[in-house]
Amino acid sequence: MYVENITLAGSSMISMDIERENTLLKLSIAQLKAELTQAKLEMEKTKKPPLLVCEVVNLIGDKAVVKLANGNLFLVDVNENIKGKLSVKDTVLAEQRSLTILERIEGSRTCSPEAFLVSRKPSIKWSDIGGLEDEIRELKEAIELPLLRPDIFQKVGIEAPKGVLLHGPPGCGKTLLAKALANATNATFIEIVGSELVQKFIGEGAKLVKEVFQLAREKAPSIIFIDEMDAIASHRVDAGTSGDREVQRTFMQLLAEVDGFESLDNVKIIGATNRFDILDHALIRPGRLDRLIEIGMPDANARKSIFSIHTAGINLKKVDIEKLVEQTRGLSGADIRLVCTEAGYFGIRANRVHILHNDFEQAVRKVKCVEEDTDYKKMFG
Ligand SMILES: Nc1ncnc2c1ncn2[C@@H]1O[C@H](COP(=O)(O)OP(=O)(O)O)[C@@H](O)[C@H]1O
Ligand SMILES: [Mg+2]
Repeated sequence: MYVENITLAGSSMISMDIERENTLLKLSIAQLKAELTQAKLEMEKTKKPPLLVCEVVNLIGDKAVVKLANGNLFLVDVNENIKGKLSVKDTVLAEQRSLTILERIEGSRTCSPEAFLVSRKPSIKWSDIGGLEDEIRELKEAIELPLLRPDIFQKVGIEAPKGVLLHGPPGCGKTLLAKALANATNATFIEIVGSELVQKFIGEGAKLVKEVFQLAREKAPSIIFIDEMDAIASHRVDAGTSGDREVQRTFMQLLAEVDGFESLDNVKIIGATNRFDILDHALIRPGRLDRLIEIGMPDANARKSIFSIHTAGINLKKVDIEKLVEQTRGLSGADIRLVCTEAGYFGIRANRVHILHNDFEQAVRKVKCVEEDTDYKKMFG
């Protein structure tokens, strides 16, 4: 009896052990299975061919033209999930064989020189610029005429300048002039912003300058517009930090490029700066950007035409422009545009659809008030 009991207890203990063992084994099988799946996945990944990195250069209907690193162009399909989300200059991942675009690499504007090509011409016309008649003529003579009629310069025997430098206080129409010129000529227009070259394309500045000039020569006749020139051509840079050295290298490359082409090469440069005072004079030495065009604050006549340009679409009622012209002495073209917008807001706030003289007077006071804040010009320049 006693012996039998022990045996029974013993056998139930053994079966409990086996059960526990069984559970443990099941657990470890599950774990191994999971590991196996993971390993299979990893293996699949290594079997997949790598994706190609390429750049979108054009969109045609549902398809895209991509450019590979070797420069070859292909018309390819776009995966459903990114259809409509692509734009030109995006960097994308494409399947190797069909080159179907699968993904877009976020924040990946490439810094190829084509990125600076302005393919859609700005819509600014000469008539959108108030005043500056002499400056426009000078710009046309220095840039447009030699591109259109190089023969005249050859016959007369004078050399057209390689480029011009527009300088003067902010908001007076330098950028506007360059855009109007781009619109007026059929030349390839390449736009670089000095500060972007320095801040966005760190380490690439000099290389980009070189490539941009090469591109300009390939696509001649061309105009290279370098806005905010002072960001790369300031004499204040003393090469203390590596950032400064980088800016200096970019500037040296720019000078080398300017020196490297003949004035009849059909490439023209327009520089623009608000800070003529800090500009390195190496840039404006004879044979470089030696044609200086000052874009000063608008005089009364210019202010009048700037007013008429920026009020053209506004519903005016009894507005005395002459008086406003007097009151806006010392304001720039950008300020006058701001006055017009502000006047519009005063009208809207009063629930009117037409703008009265008083709205303008209030706007002028407001803009002048902000103007006195020293940082304003920097903010909007
Ligand atoms: N002479 C002008 N005629 C008409 N609008 C002007 C003029 N000057 C400046 N503006 C207005 O001010 C804005 C800024 O001018 P912009 O050309 O960028 O000045 P900047 O000289 O700083 O390059 C222009 O987009 C335009 O709306
Ligand atoms: Mg500007």
